[in-house]
Amino acid sequence: MVTGKNTGSATASLIILLVSSSSCLINAQDITYPSVAHHPNSWINVPVFNFGFWDSAGVTPILASGTYVCGFHCESSKGKCLFAVSIFQINSSISPKIVWSANRNNPVKLRATLQLSGKGYLILQDLDGTPVWNTNTTGKFVSGLKLSEEGNLVLFDRNNETVWQSFDHPTDTLVPGQALVPGQKLTANVSTSNSSAGLYSVALTNDSLIAFLEPDPQQVYFGPLRVKHMNQGNIKVQYLNGSFDRFLLPSTSAAQFIQLGSDGHLRAYQLRESKWEPVSDLLINYTGACGFPLVCGEYGVCSAGSCTCPKAEGNESLLYFSKVSEGCHENIPVSCKPSDLHSHSLLELKDYDYFNFIPHIKNTDREHCTKACLQNCSCKAAIYRQQLNSSNGYCCLLSKIFSFKRKEENITDYNSLSYIKVQNPPYTFFAREKGPKSIAAILGSTLGVLFTLFLVVSIFFLRGNKIDLKAVENASRGNKKKDSKAVGKRSTRFSFEDLKSMTENFSAKLGEGGFGSVFYGTLPDGSKIAVKRLDGPGHFRKSLLAEVETLGSVHHINLVTLIGFCAEKSHWLLVYEYMHNGSLDKWIFPKDRELRLSWNLRRKIILDIARGLAYLHEGWTQKILHLDIKPQNILLDENFNAQLADFGLSKVIARDQDKAFTTMRGTPGYMAPEWSSAVITEKVDVYSFGIVVLEILCGRRNVDRSQSEEEMHLLSLFRQKAEEGKLLDLVDELAEDMQPNEAEVVKMMRIAAWCLQVDYTRRPSMTDVLRVLEGFMDVKPNLIYDFLNPQAPAAPCIRAGTTSVATPSILSGPR
Ligand SMILES: *[C@@H]1O[C@H](CO)[C@@H](O)[C@H](O)[C@H]1NC(C)=O
Ligand SMILES: *[C@@H]1O[C@H](CO)[C@@H](O)[C@H](O)[C@H]1NC(C)=O
Ligand SMILES: *[C@@H]1O[C@H](CO)[C@@H](O)[C@H](O)[C@H]1NC(C)=O
Ligand SMILES: *[C@@H]1O[C@H](CO)[C@@H](O)[C@H](O)[C@H]1NC(C)=O
Ligand SMILES: *[C@@H]1O[C@H](CO)[C@@H](O)[C@H](O)[C@H]1NC(C)=O
Ligand SMILES: *[C@@H]1O[C@H](CO)[C@@H](O)[C@H](O)[C@H]1NC(C)=O
Ligand SMILES: *[C@@H]1O[C@H](CO)[C@@H](O)[C@H](O)[C@H]1NC(C)=O
Ligand SMILES: *[C@@H]1O[C@H](CO)[C@@H](O)[C@H](O)[C@H]1NC(C)=O
Ligand SMILES: *[C@@H]1O[C@H](CO)[C@@H](O)[C@H](O)[C@H]1NC(C)=O
Ligand SMILES: *[C@@H]1O[C@H](CO)[C@@H](O)[C@H](O)[C@H]1NC(C)=O
Ligand SMILES: *[C@@H]1O[C@H](CO)[C@@H](O)[C@H](O)[C@H]1NC(C)=O
Ligand SMILES: *[C@@H]1O[C@H](CO)[C@@H](O)[C@H](O)[C@H]1NC(C)=O
Repeated sequence: MVTGKNTGSATASLIILLVSSSSCLINAQDITYPSVAHHPNSWINVPVFNFGFWDSAGVTPILASGTYVCGFHCESSKGKCLFAVSIFQINSSISPKIVWSANRNNPVKLRATLQLSGKGYLILQDLDGTPVWNTNTTGKFVSGLKLSEEGNLVLFDRNNETVWQSFDHPTDTLVPGQALVPGQKLTANVSTSNSSAGLYSVALTNDSLIAFLEPDPQQVYFGPLRVKHMNQGNIKVQYLNGSFDRFLLPSTSAAQFIQLGSDGHLRAYQLRESKWEPVSDLLINYTGACGFPLVCGEYGVCSAGSCTCPKAEGNESLLYFSKVSEGCHENIPVSCKPSDLHSHSLLELKDYDYFNFIPHIKNTDREHCTKACLQNCSCKAAIYRQQLNSSNGYCCLLSKIFSFKRKEENITDYNSLSYIKVQNPPYTFFAREKGPKSIAAILGSTLGVLFTLFLVVSIFFLRGNKIDLKAVENASRGNKKKDSKAVGKRSTRFSFEDLKSMTENFSAKLGEGGFGSVFYGTLPDGSKIAVKRLDGPGHFRKSLLAEVETLGSVHHINLVTLIGFCAEKSHWLLVYEYMHNGSLDKWIFPKDRELRLSWNLRRKIILDIARGLAYLHEGWTQKILHLDIKPQNILLDENFNAQLADFGLSKVIARDQDKAFTTMRGTPGYMAPEWSSAVITEKVDVYSFGIVVLEILCGRRNVDRSQSEEEMHLLSLFRQKAEEGKLLDLVDELAEDMQPNEAEVVKMMRIAAWCLQVDYTRRPSMTDVLRVLEGFMDVKPNLIYDFLNPQAPAAPCIRAGTTSVATPSILSGPR
């Protein structure tokens, strides 16, 4: 009892201390720090631990003067400290704001030391003694260090003459009274959370102010703006009460500073009601809101302050680029491999401009400008400007791309066109010859197929195996067609001997499926590969060629990369890029409780699958239906980028053809209800996508025989929970961060429901799914949650095919 009481009172006094410190009010008399220190002297970075103002702000003061303090400033959470000068407010609850720091690129730890050496310099050493920063004033006669009322940290000599001062080495901030002189610059932080020197700088060169981006070559986005004050050759831009040279600022008695932000904006901040608020955006009157290099990220396009991704004029398709959190991402990276050089083209953005224009080619025309860019692989984009009353133009070639901006309408003296280089898909692979077929042949084969089909459906279905009707169809048809098609120009043909040595005689097996095994290997250049060896009989040859043909002709970051193949006598092998994290099923149906994906990764994987499918469906002149979307066919690399794999069942149809007649194929549980009619559109992939999304969110299989009768079918549960408004009950309990992201998770479930509509015409296209995922569109209202159970497809009713025969799957099974 007694001990209990004691603990209680101790806690109470601690609480009192904490409460008094959390109010963060300090009295003038709390500031007992000097403004001058004499040499030799040294200070150690140890927190004050008095629950006072400095402690709660993570500051260990050394000198203080006016509203400025100089000392160690630590980020309490990370134990990373800067030796810095900051501006603070007496009797206020706001933390000191750093206006200058010595070691922004090299934070030090607790117990680092600052030493004012007798040899004339100031040096900062980390905990282990490593010198991190010094004033380079060795040999000067320094007698002390002082912090001025303006916030200038000064090393002075016996005559009070300045030997070194922080105002000559600004970081990203200027304070009133401070000036920039030629050669000095402000450099922004890398980001709001990383104080290292970043990309943007504002500098005074000769007599002009410029703002630029650092990478070589320097790219100016503001200025040069000639400065106003130039008396007696003493050029400087001085920050005074109410102005910064040509820029007018609110004149005030409240504290103020100017800071270059990590977004490239130069802003003035002022203390208002105990908050630092931006009161002026200095450069924007000259640049416009879209005139900052990374306003929309790399490859982003800025129009009236809002961001999109580049797309061809009048073309709604989101093919070449996808939106990522910062900027846009090339779906098909431009390749400089000699074999890919001929397949570049330029995406034209009419009336788009760039923040910076260096006329690399003068007195030229549009054709020469675009040609110059296409001929040099380092050129990633070209900007062409033409004066209105002239036939001559200027051409600027870019080797690194930041944001594009829509040309301001009131700039009427020139036209501007931007061209972004993109990688073409090799169309030629789609040009299949379609041999005419006699009705008798079709009928004959169809009847044969129907019969075999029936048997196989019964057998495979009962076993719960994948129905591979195509293989049967082809077997019954015989293998008459010759494999004359152009086989993947992009894919290398390997010899069996080569593959044998690359896989060390097929020693490391990654997985095994019904039709073959997958082995680990390495190419001579060291890149890792997965080699699929087909062990089935000879008629599978054709399907190998089909997969090579389909995969070899598409190239997309979310489709597995087929590196090559081998077709020799009895050896049939496919060579893929090795995917470090294997297939998705291992990650969402975990037996092992260690494996669990965060919500962010789940969302990213869903987005990747959607991009891959959108590309297949709406990519090019022909549509590719994958027809076997399921977690086993989605592979993950070491960064959890998802790629679609296994095109053994895929089907290529003409773009203008919206329906195809085909035989039933796929995997039960993932097959859309309309398969029973055998009239198939790309919406069957959308359906399977919906199932996969649901499985990713719920962390369980669509049909899970290990569950009780009423919990076995995920779709019936989904319907029930949707009606009860308790969708979150379904969420994978292994993912701790899904409940907190409730709104997003529920939105994703509604996308799944949309994709699972029984009537395929009610399902979205994959492009619409992408638009919803990227926030450009909402899920259609009035979804019908009465999902037909796809477990029981009606008796197959196959109609005579009008398209060429597709291929058997020999590539299924685990990888
Ligand atoms: C700060 O507050 C104390 C008491 O709360 C007061 O005596 C002092 O004058 C204040 N100082 C300033 C600068 O307002
Ligand atoms: C001191 O000199 C070093 C090397 O020349 C340089 O990297 C550093 O920035 C200088 N320090 C200051 C404060 O000028
Ligand atoms: C230097 O300045 C201090 C205070 O500002 C003053 O006390 C001292 O006499 C000055 N020394 C010289 C040599 O001017
Ligand atoms: C800060 O940015 C620099 C430069 O980009 C980088 O080297 C450093 O690792 C970053 N620091 C942190 C903590 O992210
Ligand atoms: C830059 O980093 C410093 C130190 O962390 C911080 O005090 C300052 O506010 C940052 N500047 C910007 C613009 O975020
Ligand atoms: C600045 O002056 C130097 C030499 O005086 C000159 O070479 C350079 O071109 C000038 N820069 C600008 C931007 O005027
Ligand atoms: C700045 O100027 C305004 C008006 O001219 C004045 O009221 C204010 O006190 C001045 N501020 C400082 C810090 O001198
Ligand atoms: C920008 O322009 C507006 C309106 O013309 C003006 O009020 C403002 O002072 C200007 N900003 C700067 C920093 O000069
Ligand atoms: C735009 O879309 C059409 C089909 O709608 C397609 O034929 C064309 O190639 C696309 N153009 C570009 C540049 O993507
Ligand atoms: C290609 O472009 C790069 C960067 O724009 C340039 O450095 C290089 O000289 C160019 N090469 C040729 C052959 O023009
Ligand atoms: C063009 O118009 C924008 C606003 O519509 C304005 O901010 C800008 O100053 C104008 N530029 C010119 C050159 O007139
Ligand atoms: C272009 O020519 C027309 C008529 O010749 C003239 O009115 C206009 O001012 C010219 N524009 C420019 C930008 O020179």
